[in-house]
Amino acid sequence: ADVVESYSYEDIEAISKFLLERCRHRPKIGIICGSGLGGLADTLQEQEAFPYESIPKFPVSTVSGHKGRLVFGVLSGKAVVCMQGRFHMYEGYSMAKVTLPVRVMKLLGVETMLVTNAAGGVNQDYVPGDIMIIKDHINFPGLCGNNPLRGPNNEKFGPRFPAMNDAYNAKLRASLRAAAKLCGLSDHMKEGVYAYLGGPAYETVAELRFLKAIGVDAVGMSTAPEVIVARHCGMKVCGLSLISNKGIMEYDPSLVIDHSEVLEAGRVRAADIQSLVSNLVKLIDE
Ligand code: ADE
Repeated sequence: ADVVESYSYEDIEAISKFLLERCRHRPKIGIICGSGLGGLADTLQEQEAFPYESIPKFPVSTVSGHKGRLVFGVLSGKAVVCMQGRFHMYEGYSMAKVTLPVRVMKLLGVETMLVTNAAGGVNQDYVPGDIMIIKDHINFPGLCGNNPLRGPNNEKFGPRFPAMNDAYNAKLRASLRAAAKLCGLSDHMKEGVYAYLGGPAYETVAELRFLKAIGVDAVGMSTAPEVIVARHCGMKVCGLSLISNKGIMEYDPSLVIDHSEVLEAGRVRAADIQSLVSNLVKLIDE
C-alpha cells in the first residue's frame, strides 16, 4: 500500500549525529525564524552554521527572504539552535520535509521550541507591526487530512493520537508577555488564534471574512505543522506572529498585498523581535 513520505528514526538520528559531531553547542532551545525574521540567527554568539545543503538528507529552501541554514550559538547566555529559513508546503515539500527539522532538533536535545512567522492580520484591531503571541491555531490542511502526523506513527517520537488542546504553552506565553514588558513592546503585543493555510495564493475577500467569522486573528502559510510535530514529541512550544499586513476585507481592487510588504514589516520590527526573543530566552529555565 502507498504510504506518505516519512523519515525513519534512524534517518533522523543520523542527521542529528552528523550535527552533534561537528558542533560543540548542546541547545535545549530551538527557534524557527519566519519570513524576514532570520536576522535573529545572525545575532547569536559563538556561531556554528550549517547550510541546509551541507546536511545529509536535509531539504533545501527556495523562497526569497529565507536563507537556509541551521545556526547554533549562544543567546542570552544559553545555547540555542535557529532554523534560518523554513520549508513550506506551498514550495512543494511534503509534510515530512516541512517538519523534519523539528524532529532533528528533538534528537539534538531541544526541549523548548519558539516558532516565528509573518502573518496577515484578520482581527481588524491589528495593525502591521503588531506582534501576536500565538494562543492557538487552526490547521486548515490538517482538518482535511493533510496533517504532518499522517502515516505510520513512530512511538519513539510520540503517541498515535496526541492531544493538541495545550499546544501553545501557557507559561511560555506569560514569559513572552513579561519579555515584551522588559523591552518596552507591551503596546504592540496581541494574543490570538493563527490560521494555517496552504498558500501560496493570499486569501480572497470571502476567505478572509470566513476566517474572521470563525475567530481567527492572524493568517499565514507555516507554523502549525512544525508545532504539531513538536508537541507530538513532547516539546514545549510558543509562537509569535509578526503582523505584516492587514487582511483586505473589502472588494476594492485598489488594495493589494505583496510579498515585499511582508518582508518590509520584518525589517521594521526585526530588532524588536530579536530583543523580545532574547529576553524570552533569558526567562526560560532549562
Ligand atoms: N503571510 C503574510 N501575510 C499573509 C497573509 N495575508 N496571508 C497569508 N500569509 C501571510
